[in-house]
Amino acid sequence: MSAMSRPYSGRFSVAPMMDWTNRRCRAFHRILTRRARLYTEMVTADAVVFGPRERLIGFDASEHPVALQLGGADPARLAEAARIGAAFGYDEINLNCGCPSDRVQSGRFGACLMREPSVVAECVAAMVAAVDVPVTVKCRIGVDEQEPREALFAFAEAVKAAGATALVAHARKAWLEGLSPKDNRSIPPLDYELVYKLKQAHPEWPIILNGGLANLDLGCAQLTHVDGIMLGRAAYQNPELLIGVDPELFGEPAPIADGFEAIEAFMPTIARGLQRGERLHDYTRHLHGMFTGRPGARAFRQVLATEAIRAGAGLEVLREAVSRVERRREYVAAAE
Ligand SMILES: Cc1cc2nc3c(=O)[nH]c(=O)nc-3n(C[C@H](O)[C@H](O)[C@H](O)COP(=O)(O)O)c2cc1C
Repeated sequence: MSAMSRPYSGRFSVAPMMDWTNRRCRAFHRILTRRARLYTEMVTADAVVFGPRERLIGFDASEHPVALQLGGADPARLAEAARIGAAFGYDEINLNCGCPSDRVQSGRFGACLMREPSVVAECVAAMVAAVDVPVTVKCRIGVDEQEPREALFAFAEAVKAAGATALVAHARKAWLEGLSPKDNRSIPPLDYELVYKLKQAHPEWPIILNGGLANLDLGCAQLTHVDGIMLGRAAYQNPELLIGVDPELFGEPAPIADGFEAIEAFMPTIARGLQRGERLHDYTRHLHGMFTGRPGARAFRQVLATEAIRAGAGLEVLREAVSRVERRREYVAAAE
């Protein structure tokens, strides 16, 4: 399929998450939803240009639609990385302007770029000129002392004028002084209203809301205000919610009946990985949030956490973990 035949839709996406949304995780998420847009972890433009590309940004054709998130602040380097990403077949190239970690600040990219809309605009323009696929930006509503109403609107104007197809706004500030990256995802208060106002100011330009959307119902309720929603932790920590995405947001049947079927469908992918010498845990760590809230979920996680990490662990461990949930389900059904 050519890139042009895959129009941009940001109606629902799973957020880029370092160390979480790698290709194994995305392969599993794709079993749960055909329509969600999936994002890679952030990869720096330097790494894409100079690093082991296949290992860093290789992905499976089943993952489409899939977006590559880049980090950087050098227009030429980002353009080169975007070109490489597009040649790999990514459906979208996204620029990270929201990540607050120290490591990222020292490299002058991520959330600190909220202070430099003109630099970001140059980067976006260079990327847009380099590729045919949509170039998008993910940002915060401001950093530190910035006034979000001014910072976000000026930032949005700049990247839109530079040719960004859409903007994903994590609806809280990043506090670059004194907060860990983890705390920066929960302590600065959310301000959805501001993102709604940004949308009102840009009726024709896709604006995607991210941050604190704890489940699909809360997310769907946002769609009267914005063009799309991006879920991060909720999707990773409770992947079964993704089974609702195709029916509830796209009016299409779910690709899979339930979590049990999804894990069964993931097994051939895992088996191929094991044959290549990968560890079971490399795959099952992305499944720990399965069956959340169901009887047996804790036993499922315990089996995976203790057994899947052992050298030589195979699919029988995953089957055993799943059987704990099923047994409890049968038990509960029998007791009712
Ligand atoms: C473990 C983890 C890693 C993250 N890594 C990235 C990243 O690489 N790039 C990025 O733009 N955001 C990253 N984020 C932020 C998420 O994309 C998202 O903006 C944030 O978690 C808020 O959304 P949520 O409340 O739905 O989780 C990360 C979040 C988590 C929890």
